[in-house]
Amino acid sequence: MIYTVTLNPALDKTVEIPSLTVDSVNRITAMRTDPGGKGINVSKVIQKLGRESVAAGILGGSTGRAIASALEAMELRTGFWFVEGETRTNLKVIDPVNHTNTDLNEPGITVSEEILKGLLQELLLQVDREDIVVLSGSLPKGAPEDTYGTWVKACRETGAKVILDVDGKLLQAGIEASPYLIKPNNHELSVLMGRELGTPEELEKAARQLMEQHHIAKVVVSMGGAGALYIAGEETIYAEGLKVPVKSTVGAGDSVVAALAAAEEAGMSMEDTVRLSMACGAANVMCSGTQAAEYDVIEELVSKVVFRYL
Ligand SMILES: Nc1ncnc2c1ncn2[C@@H]1O[C@H](COP(=O)(O)OP(=O)(O)OP(=O)(O)O)[C@@H](O)[C@H]1O
Ligand SMILES: [Mg+2]
Repeated sequence: MIYTVTLNPALDKTVEIPSLTVDSVNRITAMRTDPGGKGINVSKVIQKLGRESVAAGILGGSTGRAIASALEAMELRTGFWFVEGETRTNLKVIDPVNHTNTDLNEPGITVSEEILKGLLQELLLQVDREDIVVLSGSLPKGAPEDTYGTWVKACRETGAKVILDVDGKLLQAGIEASPYLIKPNNHELSVLMGRELGTPEELEKAARQLMEQHHIAKVVVSMGGAGALYIAGEETIYAEGLKVPVKSTVGAGDSVVAALAAAEEAGMSMEDTVRLSMACGAANVMCSGTQAAEYDVIEELVSKVVFRYL
């Protein structure tokens, strides 16, 4: 089983307001709400790939209940902890006339160490060595900075493979505990290494340094429209980005992570993993918001992926 963990989920509310104006009444012409947060996005894509996952995490209040019921309506398996407080709603205002995107993000729930410990203990009761745990996204207020270090270590000790997709100080803390796979983008890897990494060769060298230093088995470095690098064992593959019409690049990385988890569970070869995950990333950017792409779109892109060994 694949478990995804979203410690700081959000209800993503996207509204369309032509000619948005401050200090005046604005009329919404279209709106939609989607359960969001990186782990939840990963679970949605895993489902499109025809595999199962359990989406775990922390929810609160009526917004939390709305997220849980939306996920259940999508027939996703969930394992959320309900706590005091209100899960955040992130409002995205799209103005199709002035071509602007305005985000209004709520602060969300503040958690205690007891809540985090309780959720982790519950997860550990379910996870075993055949499983994959995907840890991704920001932390709620109140969570210590080394939370992902604690979670990676605890999950790894069950024998499960841990995939970590977080950035900044959270990534630094998480890699200390030797996750199985990390998927930074090129900017996140540059920040982590404290220097600008431009070429695939520079990125590969940095990734190998981390793999050796922190006993990480696999690193995938995504590079937006420029594709991604896959580094495992002696092998390094550079895959070009697919040329597709771009609607929204939000969550492209989450789609790649979903494919990596699905491919790992299915025991796919490195080359097939490259094909599936690049197709998933590209199919995601063809969709608006954080909507998960349909499998037939992904399938059609799989054969178009171009890659070479470095
Ligand atoms: N403009 C684009 N055109 C084609 N493919 C893209 C584009 N942007 C992203 N992708 C695909 O999606 C993958 C992941 O994108 P990216 O490197 O931007 O992830 P990310 O920065 O982690 O995104 P996020 O964290 O917002 O989900 C890329 O490796 C590529 O395959
Ligand atoms: Mg990302």
